[in-house]
Amino acid sequence: MSEIPSTDEALAALSMPLLDAMMTQRAIRRVKPDPVDDALVAKCIELGLRAPTGSNGQNWEFIVVKDQRVKDKLGKRYRQGWAAYGALGERAAAGDESMLKILRSVKWQVEHFSEIPVLVIPCLRGGMRLPYLPTPFVGESSYFGSIYPSVQNLLLAARAMGLGASLITMPLWSVTSARKTLGLPLSVTPICVIPLGWPKGRYGPTTRKPVEDVVHLDSYGKRWVKD
Ligand SMILES: Cc1cc2nc3c(=O)[nH]c(=O)nc-3n(C[C@H](O)[C@H](O)[C@H](O)COP(=O)(O)O)c2cc1C
Repeated sequence: MSEIPSTDEALAALSMPLLDAMMTQRAIRRVKPDPVDDALVAKCIELGLRAPTGSNGQNWEFIVVKDQRVKDKLGKRYRQGWAAYGALGERAAAGDESMLKILRSVKWQVEHFSEIPVLVIPCLRGGMRLPYLPTPFVGESSYFGSIYPSVQNLLLAARAMGLGASLITMPLWSVTSARKTLGLPLSVTPICVIPLGWPKGRYGPTTRKPVEDVVHLDSYGKRWVKD
């Protein structure tokens, strides 16, 4: 089981090579209940804020949740979401050991959600649609695209510092309920949840498709053969 580093050690670990961080950033759902220093959470968010936003709007807000009652309420919604989709997922994944492994770790997170020390909830101000104007799909893309680059920066910062992190959305399945729990006005939308804590296990390489399987040259279906 991995040791918990001091705050200074964790901050110093941010100098980890970018390649190593990118190759080993993965969803760490099983975390210890031990507290995480605010300085480390703030550093993750500070690095998140280096990300781009549409028109440089910087229309982001981040709710840091440490209050047990707030965690419990979000955890209750996560359990409801899991109750609806978990069994379906397990049935669909029958025989697929790597998917079943992911689902086991999701189940752990659902069951231990209230024990996770910190949640960061990235939110966006403003709406997806422009007032009085029909919004093309690219408007929606720009809207959600104005938070996820910061989320990825935050995940990479957490990984470098050795903090366990994952990107989850299921606790927010009811935006109305999430707004009420977090005291958000209608003008602010919660987008995802990043639970943070010291990992019970350790980071390691991710498994992804090879470049050749997903790249097309000039038009869809034309395989890209590298020079
Ligand atoms: C938009 C989005 C929503 C996600 N929602 C959840 C979620 O609600 N619960 C969860 O456990 N993981 C969630 N994930 C994490 C994915 O399951 C995870 O990234 C994927 O299984 C790859 O895992 P790995 O990075 O450990 O390889 C979400 C990821 C994304 C990008």
